[in-house]
Amino acid sequence: MVSRMANAQTAQQASFVRLICMAFGHSCEVNEKEQKIFKKQQAVIASILDYRACLGLSSPCTWSEIKRTGPLYGRVAVVTGASSGIGKAVAIALAASGAKVALGARRADLLQDVIKIIQSGKGEAIGLKTDVTSMEQVKTLVQAAESSLGPVDILVNCAGLMYYTLMKNLHVEEWDKQIDVNCKGVTNSIGAVLDGMLKRSKGHIVNISSDAGRRGFPGLAVYSGTKFFVEGMSQALRQELASTGVRVTCIQPGDVKTPLQKMSTDTEANQLYNGSDQVQILEVEDIARAVVYAVSQPSYVAINEILIEPREAPV
Ligand SMILES: NC(=O)c1ccc[n+]([C@@H]2O[C@H](COP(=O)([O-])OP(=O)(O)OC[C@H]3O[C@@H](n4cnc5c(N)ncnc54)[C@H](OP(=O)(O)O)[C@@H]3O)[C@@H](O)[C@H]2O)c1
Repeated sequence: MVSRMANAQTAQQASFVRLICMAFGHSCEVNEKEQKIFKKQQAVIASILDYRACLGLSSPCTWSEIKRTGPLYGRVAVVTGASSGIGKAVAIALAASGAKVALGARRADLLQDVIKIIQSGKGEAIGLKTDVTSMEQVKTLVQAAESSLGPVDILVNCAGLMYYTLMKNLHVEEWDKQIDVNCKGVTNSIGAVLDGMLKRSKGHIVNISSDAGRRGFPGLAVYSGTKFFVEGMSQALRQELASTGVRVTCIQPGDVKTPLQKMSTDTEANQLYNGSDQVQILEVEDIARAVVYAVSQPSYVAINEILIEPREAPV
């Protein structure tokens, strides 16, 4: 009896030590129960650190370091379109909230830059050159994520293209590219993670849609069509998955400051309808915060849609 009690005490002490290690930003193996305790106590630890800072006392780590073992601690995310703009910001924000992140896009050199940023913040990330129009390549990305980081909990579909173009000007190649990346890229990526999520009865699919998925914008007819596709598909999928533990969120940004705004070659359409320089438009971090919010909710909560727009340009 005595030795069993002693064993229990030692196990409790070891568990406590592991929690303290985690709190001070050291990586260590913790079980599920310990993770729960840690999450509950984070706010307390943060306020102790803030209090020490107010008194001018040094602490073994800062609050921002603790945040890295934050609300998404232990989760694995795949982010497509992570080489630029919104995807890059989302990948960094997820990592800063504690998730391990697998990045996909075609420009592998840019992915490496994002990985460096994440690693400099003590986050964990891998990157793989991926064209989302190829189901095989997306599957390879997901397999790489699973073997290096663990089962995928979160997929964020950020890969996308947008061309201002008038339909009468017949920029057919740009229509096709948008349909391939914005529609098929999203279904390919969902197809690559869904089976695993269903088997584990948990997962979160986040689609970066657009306010153009809520109403058609002139000059963006095909683009709007692709985003209506994403919205319709997501609504239906959400209902198919409602009882499975897998959630589907659409984030619907208005204009955001990214290279996407400068892609268009149809100058007529661009001059007529691209008003992104007329008001203060969104920053990529505004969208990244919404993604972190959506994926950080308790499992019974579904953030189905978030419309985020520049204040001066409502739909
Ligand atoms: N910026 C806005 O105003 C705005 C507003 C609403 C919604 N959105 C949506 O937000 C998403 C991200 O756009 P963004 O504004 O961040 O533009 P961005 O900076 O140009 O980023 C687009 C990303 O998509 C990737 N991509 C394009 N084609 C791809 C392909 N075939 N395979 C894999 N990745 C591909 C690009 O990477 P590689 O070129 O390296 O492959 C890049 O990382 C898009 O879905 C867009 O529709 C943007």
